Amino acid sequence: MTTESQATAAASGAGATARFREDKHVSAATSQERVSALAGRIIKAINDTVIDEKVTYDEYNALKSWLIRVGEDGEWPLFLDVWVEHSVEEVANANRHGSKGTIEGPYYIPNAPSQNTPATLPMRDDEPGTPLLFQGQVKNVAGEPLPGALIELWHADDLGFYSQFAPGLPEWNLRGSVNADDEGKFQVNTIQPAPYQIPTDGACGALIAASGWHAWRPAHLHLKVSAPGHQLITTQLYFQGDEHVADDIASAVKPELVLAPTDRGAGNGREVTYDFILDPED
Ligand code: DHB
Ligand code: FE
Repeated sequence: MTTESQATAAASGAGATARFREDKHVSAATSQERVSALAGRIIKAINDTVIDEKVTYDEYNALKSWLIRVGEDGEWPLFLDVWVEHSVEEVANANRHGSKGTIEGPYYIPNAPSQNTPATLPMRDDEPGTPLLFQGQVKNVAGEPLPGALIELWHADDLGFYSQFAPGLPEWNLRGSVNADDEGKFQVNTIQPAPYQIPTDGACGALIAASGWHAWRPAHLHLKVSAPGHQLITTQLYFQGDEHVADDIASAVKPELVLAPTDRGAGNGREVTYDFILDPED
């Protein structure tokens, strides 16, 4: 058994909760009218469910106990990013003309080590997994190259674990910030990530088990791509042939985001080209 396989929901949940508190600056600017409208609708949706489904006291108490456990396990970021963020992203990016975005998830860490293209993500000397060359160009909606583009890339390892959220991995393993060249072109050497399983030993895992759902996300690369004067896009890229592409627990796959890498031959793994189109700043 490797150290990584001892990753626990409590550890990744607590890590995700701490990370959220450090990085996301929650604005207090929401108006009273807006809070009242949103909280009112959510409370009504819960009450409607109780009435329609004739929810019993046993079920009500099971809900209370589960909600308490989500907090104890630090799993609010996991829960929200799996079951809610996809709708928030849909609303946020509805007016974009460029590349599709999708959810950020709970495991982004800013300020990963910076490199110029061609880059190799930080990884262990014996990093397991098939080598993957990920390359492309960052352009504007008119198809013109964007100089000064930055590609932030983070992903799970060959066992589905993220550095800084599972024990035993080097701090920046499989996380990097890559400066593209003056034509927005980039090349990043990494390894093929494995599918990711929502931690099964915490509150979210208990919900999945109690519902008879599965806990899987398809293998994915996480990206934030930006260039001066343009809107940053947060997205993910998936891999054709992955059984969970059609059945992602986080509902975050879009057909435009599925890659079909080709074999490079001579044991050099696979490669794939994907161009990013960025919308101008508003
Ligand atoms: C979760 C994990 C991910 O790696 C991801 O991309 C989205 C959601 C989660 O555990 O909530
Ligand atoms: Fe992820």
